[in-house]
Amino acid sequence: MNTLTFEDLDEQVEDKLTNDPVYFAEKMLGIILHWYQIIVIQDPFPYKAMCWSRQIGKSTLVAVYVVWYIFTNANKNILILSQDRDASRRFYNQVIGYVLGNEILAQSIKGEALQSITRFNNGTQMQNKAPGREGKSVRGDAVDLLIIDEADFIAEAVFDAAEQTTAARHGAIILISTPNKKGSTFHQYFQDGFDAYKKAKGLMPLDEDDDPKYFIGHPVGFVFGFKTYHYGYQIGMDVNVTLPDGSQRPQLSHVIVNRMKAKSAYWKFQQEYEAIWAEDIGSYFHADDITNAIDETYSMENFGKPNRIYYMGVDFAKHVDKTVALIGEILDDGRMKIVHIYEAHNRNWVKQKEDLKILAHNFGISRAFLDGTGVGDALFDDLNGVDSPLYNKCERIIFTTPTKNNVYQNLSNLLRAGRLIHPHHKQLIDEMMYLQYEKMEGTQYVRIHEPKGMVDIGDDYPDAYALLGMGLAKNLLLGSFQGYLVRKNISPYPNFWEANKPEGTPKGGAIKNPHWDVKGAKIHRLKKKDPEFRKSRYKHRNL
Ligand SMILES: Nc1ncnc2c1ncn2[C@@H]1O[C@H](COP(=O)(O)OP(=O)(O)O)[C@@H](O)[C@H]1O
Ligand SMILES: [Mg+2]
Repeated sequence: MNTLTFEDLDEQVEDKLTNDPVYFAEKMLGIILHWYQIIVIQDPFPYKAMCWSRQIGKSTLVAVYVVWYIFTNANKNILILSQDRDASRRFYNQVIGYVLGNEILAQSIKGEALQSITRFNNGTQMQNKAPGREGKSVRGDAVDLLIIDEADFIAEAVFDAAEQTTAARHGAIILISTPNKKGSTFHQYFQDGFDAYKKAKGLMPLDEDDDPKYFIGHPVGFVFGFKTYHYGYQIGMDVNVTLPDGSQRPQLSHVIVNRMKAKSAYWKFQQEYEAIWAEDIGSYFHADDITNAIDETYSMENFGKPNRIYYMGVDFAKHVDKTVALIGEILDDGRMKIVHIYEAHNRNWVKQKEDLKILAHNFGISRAFLDGTGVGDALFDDLNGVDSPLYNKCERIIFTTPTKNNVYQNLSNLLRAGRLIHPHHKQLIDEMMYLQYEKMEGTQYVRIHEPKGMVDIGDDYPDAYALLGMGLAKNLLLGSFQGYLVRKNISPYPNFWEANKPEGTPKGGAIKNPHWDVKGAKIHRLKKKDPEFRKSRYKHRNL
């Protein structure tokens, strides 16, 4: 798009450029803002906290605003903070790209444009910083406009120091971010403002001590004084951008959103695309994903059929829990169905090994995925040894935080994609439903564990299932390598099954089987005094 040149300028045009940032964006920078960007850029309120989905134009909006601000405000000091050097450089390049892309704007840079500080000939200057974890490098300047990009990812010390730079000049503050941490400064400012917005619009009742005179029609945070804007991914999928060849495409790609939805842990999708702070703890699996995979109609098998591929996942008992082995058959449509469930309590290792070998023999297992955490080498060596039907077919997986996250993420993806079928087995379903996670501070990982205080609910089934899921994943990914057999017609797309479900395939949700009711599921919480307690097989755990 051609932008305005000196010849186009007259008093009327200049007036419009000064007063209308949307006109300025289009005519000077060649960018047509989306409606939700326009709402924000036209709002003169000085304190804004924006919580938006990824990739819907946060940084772009702020870059456009900064350019307009520079050219309509003389002798101002602008400070832009980014979460790291890369982000800072990208942001700087975007602003300078806009400035140099237009001949009127280009000649206004005074001296050299440097990322650390760029001066313009109206006396305004822009600084770009990525201050790391300490506030030192942002102290000292008196700032008229402070912008923090991805504000929820900035260290609190930096946030504090930056905020104080605005005090002397009553500077404006623009915070924009995807959610990251609950309880952060950004989270508090946003929540305060967002509550006020909802109260102002009548979407949320006033608290008893709220002054209606403040809240009615006044969407500004009562405690911190920020106005908020909240936009999730849907909004970005519903607006189009025009490409240089004149064709249009949505701002946010439907394909990518669906892929992220299928692939990410739910809390991650919630944070990054729905722009909602996820709970810090919760159930690891989606109840729907578990129930959708239930097939009520089949019964377990004890022998493999010829020419079929079977995998096995085994979680070994450590102290007082149970050994669980699950066997899955690969179906022609690329899904895997659990066809045998083995559970052993207080059974000695010699017998357990024999059981597993018999199962492996009876099914002709192609590959077994064994939990190697806290289990002796001898057990693995024996099952994988020359005399075993699992000779050279065992993979040992040690559950460290990253491997456990990977193995579980894989199971979650396969369930979400409709690639697994399991029977209506109460213990299996219970343990899947109640499996918990907590986010681990400062990492991308979660801690996955059985629920506390539920005597009969462990994580042995989910562990075995996650290990079994490795079989299907490797079958899909590795094909004929390493003894995995290739099955034709397996689509590489995670949503393959959803898209190709035969008519009438039952969907989960409400389950009619009286033996299983998610809400009413019977949970045994035994107290020490309880006479039942002594009989409990799990008397040592979780008490
Ligand atoms: N109004 C718009 N018109 C055209 N493209 C846009 C617009 N807003 C953003 N974009 C483009 O969309 C992409 C994502 O924008 P960005 O500002 O980086 O998103 P975010 O900071 O929200 O992740 C960038 O390529 C950007 O150039
Ligand atoms: Mg950005």
